[in-house]
Amino acid sequence: MAGNESEQKGASGDNNDERSPWSFIIRGMWRSPLGLMGVTLTTVSITLMVVGLAFDILGLIENPYANIFTYMILPGGMITGLALIPIAGFLRRRQWHQFGIPREHLHINLSDHKHRKFLIVFIVLTVINVSVLGLIGYEGYHFTDSPYFCGVVCHQVMAPEYTVYQRSPHAKVACVECHIGPGAQWFVRAKISGLRQVAAVLTDSYSKPIPAPVEHLRPARDTCETCHWPEKFHGKKVKVMKHFTNDDQATPKVTEIALHIGGRNPETRVFEGIHWHVSNDVQVEYLATDAKRTNIAKVRVKRPDGSHDEFVKNGEKAGAGEAGEWRTMDCIDCHNRPTHVYDMPEDVVDFGILSKTINGAIPGLREDSLKAITGKYATRDEAKAKIGAALLDLQTNRNAGELEKYRQDITKAGLYLVDGYLANVWPETLVEWGTYQGHLGHRSPDYGGYSLADTTFGCFRCHDEEHVNSGGKTIPQDCSLCHDEPQM
Ligand code: HEC
Ligand code: HEC
Ligand code: HEC
Ligand code: HEC
Ligand code: HEC
Repeated sequence: MAGNESEQKGASGDNNDERSPWSFIIRGMWRSPLGLMGVTLTTVSITLMVVGLAFDILGLIENPYANIFTYMILPGGMITGLALIPIAGFLRRRQWHQFGIPREHLHINLSDHKHRKFLIVFIVLTVINVSVLGLIGYEGYHFTDSPYFCGVVCHQVMAPEYTVYQRSPHAKVACVECHIGPGAQWFVRAKISGLRQVAAVLTDSYSKPIPAPVEHLRPARDTCETCHWPEKFHGKKVKVMKHFTNDDQATPKVTEIALHIGGRNPETRVFEGIHWHVSNDVQVEYLATDAKRTNIAKVRVKRPDGSHDEFVKNGEKAGAGEAGEWRTMDCIDCHNRPTHVYDMPEDVVDFGILSKTINGAIPGLREDSLKAITGKYATRDEAKAKIGAALLDLQTNRNAGELEKYRQDITKAGLYLVDGYLANVWPETLVEWGTYQGHLGHRSPDYGGYSLADTTFGCFRCHDEEHVNSGGKTIPQDCSLCHDEPQM
């Protein structure tokens, strides 16, 4: 343990008597308070680390705080302890004259059995220390890279992202696969910004809500495209959407569309359809004038045939957009919610009616449910306590006469709405309905009646017939460009 002989250079004189400088220093480890502290700290830390490691590997404890202790705090204790020991030895060396120790240089004499014993003990302890630290470092590295660490340890802060992630198609993809990706450079960057974020959490100075889009997200080429790649897409994907309206809670309005997912057409070898934007020989760049990237002033295209084009939004002054930065379109510009998928209140209520948790036969229940679930609640606890009562109140005002007949169903609907609220809204960190919206598709009041949806999200940021090139051509909004025309 005493790593201090390295600082000493061997020189003169043999020393075999009890009061040799070596035995003085080594005994000093136990006898000086600092040395004793170092030895104790190291021994206690390493013992607890081994226990913690064993528990973690055997799966006996699944507690992130125990892991923080094992992988982050105890190694610090152990290293501090190890550092204290030679410091204690060094300080003791300065007291030699008080104890009458010959002030000669230390040296190691391998033919002296005491020295040999010491050296063997030293090497064995060092090997143990290094192995334990190595194992802890390796396991700790995986621990800080686990969704568990990202999502649970930062529980307050990341609760929304972690909750919605767990019900997404990527629930089994680790946070770091998308947020860090492969390579040491991004790893170091992420750990450094992680430290800054921990400081922000401790001082409660982090942004609420966490702003989207994430400004320095790693380009999708290095993350998403390690699992999906554009050349692999093909064909169409049929989607069926069912919505109710306040006027018709009984029969859903069904929209069926076949999305032109796209890919390389095997006959013409031309890349077409929705994933055309990210095919190898196409580049789409855009200049947004706001940080949310929803107001797009200009779009530049490089097509496979080598032609270039620039589309400028009508009424937008050329040069308006100093605020923005040109960005090359990648997966995230459409799939901005691949895993942090939040529902809109209409989705929650309509699914309730469809699954019969909300009884569509009760007059006005859709409208009242929407009001109750989108009401203002200061905390999640308050929402939990009040949503059911709010729904009952609204229904009482609507038709007090029928209330008793429907009371049980209204209570059931209330409980469902509470779950729907808790799965999507965190008022404490200002994550409200619609704070995080997806760009896939387009939601306008005309298609489906999304009251809260912001219509500046989605494909129509560009495909709005308002971005014009020098020849007067626009980025098209022709319905059949992206999907088979819906029957409405
Ligand atoms: C499939 C890839 C993927 C995985 C896995 C993933 N994320 Fe994300 N995450 C994203 C993308 C893409 C964005 C950027 C959204 C944007 O720019 O609008 C994002 C954004 C975020 C944000 C910013 C707030 C927001 O919602 O935009 C946080 C915080 C976050 N992720 C945390 C996590 C945590 C914690 C995990 C693991 C539990 C995780 N992410 C797993 C892709 C992923
Ligand atoms: C580690 C591999 C991995 C990474 C990285 C990854 N995905 Fe996925 N992704 C998957 C798997 C596996 C599925 C299929 C899940 C299923 O079918 O249940 C999937 C499914 C999808 C789907 C289809 C979802 C649906 O509802 O059918 C989309 C879209 C998608 N990923 C986009 C992305 C985007 C965008 C990124 C980058 C931000 C990304 N993925 C990163 C593995 C990955
Ligand atoms: C122009 C917008 C856009 C871009 C850019 C884009 N996608 Fe998509 N992608 C879509 C749309 C729209 C769908 C169909 C959505 C749906 O299922 O509701 C889709 C579907 C998918 C699917 C599911 C395919 C299937 O057959 O079910 C995957 C996986 C996917 N995208 C991955 C990616 C990846 C990876 C990238 C980046 C290389 C990417 N996308 C870029 C718009 C885009
Ligand atoms: C940043 C602007 C932008 C956004 C956002 C955008 N597009 Fe495009 N899209 C373009 C441009 C530019 C073209 C090419 C127009 C041209 O070549 O005249 C295009 C072309 C297309 C094409 C035709 C591709 C082909 O086969 O030639 C499809 C399909 C398409 N977009 C679908 C979508 C869908 C679906 C979304 C939303 C999920 C979307 N786009 C979002 C800019 C955008
Ligand atoms: C730039 C591509 C694009 C164009 C142009 C486009 N759509 Fe869509 N549309 C989409 C995508 C992508 C979705 C799928 C959204 C999703 O998966 O949630 C969609 C979904 C829809 C839906 C179903 C929405 C829902 O939630 O029920 C309707 C209805 C619809 N489109 C109608 C139209 C009509 C009508 C037009 C012509 C005026 C049109 N779209 C033009 C890309 C486009």
